Amino acid sequence: MKNRLFVFGSINLDLVTRVARHPQPGETLHGSNYIMLAGGKGANQALAAALAFDQEPSRTLMIGAVGNDAFGTPALANLKKFGVDLSNTIEVGAGTGIALIAIDKHGENAIIVCPGANDHIYADQIKKAGLAKGDILLTQQEGNLEEIWKAHSFARQQGATVIHNAAPALETTTDTYKNIDVLIINEIETREIGRLTGIAESSAEDIARDLADMFGLVVILTLGSQGVFGVFRKTELKLAAPTVEVVDTTGAGDTFCGVFAASLLMGKDYPDALQAGLNAASLACTRLGAQQT
Ligand code: RIB
Repeated sequence: MKNRLFVFGSINLDLVTRVARHPQPGETLHGSNYIMLAGGKGANQALAAALAFDQEPSRTLMIGAVGNDAFGTPALANLKKFGVDLSNTIEVGAGTGIALIAIDKHGENAIIVCPGANDHIYADQIKKAGLAKGDILLTQQEGNLEEIWKAHSFARQQGATVIHNAAPALETTTDTYKNIDVLIINEIETREIGRLTGIAESSAEDIARDLADMFGLVVILTLGSQGVFGVFRKTELKLAAPTVEVVDTTGAGDTFCGVFAASLLMGKDYPDALQAGLNAASLACTRLGAQQT
């Protein structure tokens, strides 16, 4: 059997509206009519990977949770349609995760996530799904963090590669990084991790270098329209992003992560996998919503 990608994390339904600008604290603004779209960092990453795998059935597994409410089915619809294995996504007695998303005229978003069912995901789901040597486990920080760290530890024992996207930025400890092979972070997350780990560098790139050194990691720093910066054991690489007309940046980082991880499993080396992720993420910015199909 070919090695598989296990995405362990969040599944949301995104309620998206357009605003002329983002509100100040205490201010009320009118948005456009809202639309409901499938989202969630985990689900977005799983879908991007499945598309990169050319929808090869069950090469990508989504390990997560939805609620037993009206939002669960639409939240999973794209994953189901494009061949993601959902046999270890569970239904729990909490609401499906919801994200309230406002997009301004520059395509920049502001997001409030209500995690609901995403707080009820368990590392045991990954054991049950059969994660094995050579597989990749891809995680984010929108679900039950204790279980995510347990999942990393299990993956390490199994000989799987752990790619962790530390998004959104949260209070984590240095212990967080002990079972991770590749850390993917944006500039805000990098600065937050730098603060928590006592790294006093002024540039995000220098923090990424120090993190790679301190924890023995590959660190991938995503730089939005500026592209991506990677720190490997002995080398560094910076790639520029293709120029695109930005409609909505929501989920672009997730697309990057999913395509990057799938590309590694398909045998690409780091530079080629980064380029594939970057191309897909740029394309994702040209369309509304986090899941481009
Ligand atoms: O990264 C984008 C995602 O963040 C959205 O789809 C939303 O669900 C939030 O989780």
